[in-house]
Amino acid sequence: MKKNKILITGTSRGIGKALSEYYLNEGHQVWGCSRSESSIKHGSYTHYSLDLMDEKQVLGMFDLMTKSEFDFDVLINNAGKASFNSFMMTPFETVQKVMGLNVNGLFLVSREAAKLMMINKKKGRIVNISSVAAAQSLAGEAIYAASKSAVESLTKTMARELAKSGITVNSLGVSLYKSDLSSDIVCDKLQEVLNKQPLARWAKTSDITHTIDYFISPQSDFITGQSIYLAGIK
Ligand SMILES: NC(=O)c1ccc[n+]([C@@H]2O[C@H](COP(=O)([O-])OP(=O)(O)OC[C@H]3O[C@@H](n4cnc5c(N)ncnc54)[C@H](OP(=O)(O)O)[C@@H]3O)[C@@H](O)[C@H]2O)c1
Repeated sequence: MKKNKILITGTSRGIGKALSEYYLNEGHQVWGCSRSESSIKHGSYTHYSLDLMDEKQVLGMFDLMTKSEFDFDVLINNAGKASFNSFMMTPFETVQKVMGLNVNGLFLVSREAAKLMMINKKKGRIVNISSVAAAQSLAGEAIYAASKSAVESLTKTMARELAKSGITVNSLGVSLYKSDLSSDIVCDKLQEVLNKQPLARWAKTSDITHTIDYFISPQSDFITGQSIYLAGIK
């Protein structure tokens, strides 16, 4: 497989850390970011600490990336936050945080990444991590599901706008995966979510990497604006 330079957001733990380790083991270069430091120690890994909800900090990271000549081929928008509350009980601050990271943060990184892809390579791959929550409309996930629906809408519009520049944009709706994020879901709810899935098991890292590998492969240059869900949703 061609060796890529890959920018992944939210790499301090969970799915982002697992993706970084996978792509580093496959011989790719990875630039990761999150608010906290990363425990990943690898010669081909660079970490940048920032809050993705702060435009100045995001611009600062892209500035440093340009100076470091990290002309990446692939962006994986992974960082995300969930809120498992009934819609009536959700504080406005939570809404701002979930939307601020899942939508605004993803928008900022994608906008800056697309500029660099256009200038440096005139091609690229963007993969947005969504969630089966966008399709399931489960009680108790209103704001999280709305934020991931927005990610999928952005995916389609970005795909249209970037097609002429050789950049594909697709989204992957991840199903339940063991991480800090899913550990916030109460036990009964976990079972309800699993029962809604045609394939009722937890997602493995390889389920996620397999689909991302499909989106980023050179042969997938005619695949854009698509949303794939794990576990058979939709
Ligand atoms: N786990 C699941 O069951 C599941 C299911 C469907 C979809 N997903 C999606 O998969 C993605 C990853 O989820 P996960 O389970 O790996 O979550 P996680 O374990 O909570 O990790 C989230 C990552 O995002 C980073 N992050 C959070 N807020 C940030 C901010 N303001 N600025 C920069 N980085 C920030 C975190 O690092 P810091 O805290 O250090 O900033 C961390 O590295 C998310 O988009 C999530 O919606 C997860």
